[in-house]
Amino acid sequence: MTTLAEFLTRADAIARDGTALIRAAVTRDALDHARVGLLGRKQGQLTSLMAMLGSLPAEDRRAAGAAVNATKQTLELTLTSAEAALAPAPDASRPDDLTMPGRDAWKGAVHPVSLVIDEISGIFRELGFTIALGPEAETEWYNFGALNFPPDHPAMEAHDTLYLSDDTLLRTHTSPVQVRTLQSHTPPIRILCPGNVYRRDFFDATHAPSFMQIEGLCIDEGVSFVDLKATLSEFVRRFYSDAARVRLRPSFFPFVEPGAEMDVEVDLNDGKGTRWVEILGCGMVHPNVLDAAGIDSEKYSGWAFGMGPARIAMSRHKLPDIRLLYDSDVRFLEQFAQ
Ligand code: DAH
Repeated sequence: MTTLAEFLTRADAIARDGTALIRAAVTRDALDHARVGLLGRKQGQLTSLMAMLGSLPAEDRRAAGAAVNATKQTLELTLTSAEAALAPAPDASRPDDLTMPGRDAWKGAVHPVSLVIDEISGIFRELGFTIALGPEAETEWYNFGALNFPPDHPAMEAHDTLYLSDDTLLRTHTSPVQVRTLQSHTPPIRILCPGNVYRRDFFDATHAPSFMQIEGLCIDEGVSFVDLKATLSEFVRRFYSDAARVRLRPSFFPFVEPGAEMDVEVDLNDGKGTRWVEILGCGMVHPNVLDAAGIDSEKYSGWAFGMGPARIAMSRHKLPDIRLLYDSDVRFLEQFAQ
């Protein structure tokens, strides 16, 4: 006498082990062998299980029968797809066509956002900047406190930021790398920090909960707003075109004073003419940030910026939806392969 529980466990095991057996079969012979062993009329495992139906109490037979059918269906479906995946049996009447061109293999390529990051890094390298990196899990102090955020700033709310514990979080921007670099190096400092950042945003056409940023920082004696504007304008000329125009709009970020957003005038070739596209936030590093990192703000000054390379890739390639950059669809990505 078998119980229903034992019967169902056995049916599950046949479905699970049988599926694995079929998936492991790479030749037609191995598949046939698996089919007979599982579904064969005389010795098949499922057939033996069905023979035990009679030994169950009458009221359990319905549930047991349903389990048998489900297992059978799973095995048959797996067999059908495994068969379809097998190479066709050689057909003696149609010999192989040796003149047929080979299938082109997809060799892989650099992602469009990485291409933008590489290009931007190349331009800043020519301008004397070095790459710096920092951790993606940060403390509140590096992500906010040292960057002159007041303790009640809304960006620190749990609905904006992904916390790992009370004091640690996934960094919401690459700006904490400024603080880490200022702590460990003495000026002159010129760094560029590409990296992932995280926010509690919905995934929609223009937002992603995780995205890349590039931070820039330049600190030395006597650095002024003129250096900021000249360097970023030069970057735009090299990245977009000699004729590209830029404009700075005043803006607020706690870690800079004054702060600005920079727009570039671009023509997206969509018949609508040129328009201003925001590419970055920037400003003169706030003395409180320098002081918090142990740099003498009476002696040194400088500027910083932060930009989103995905947004830049989107405007460059006229992409309507940021999610295209996350889907890993080769048909889309191969258009940018270099
Ligand atoms: N951290 C800012 C953000 O994520 C971007 C930013 C703005 C960075 C101005 C800067 C800056 O370095 O100076 O929105």
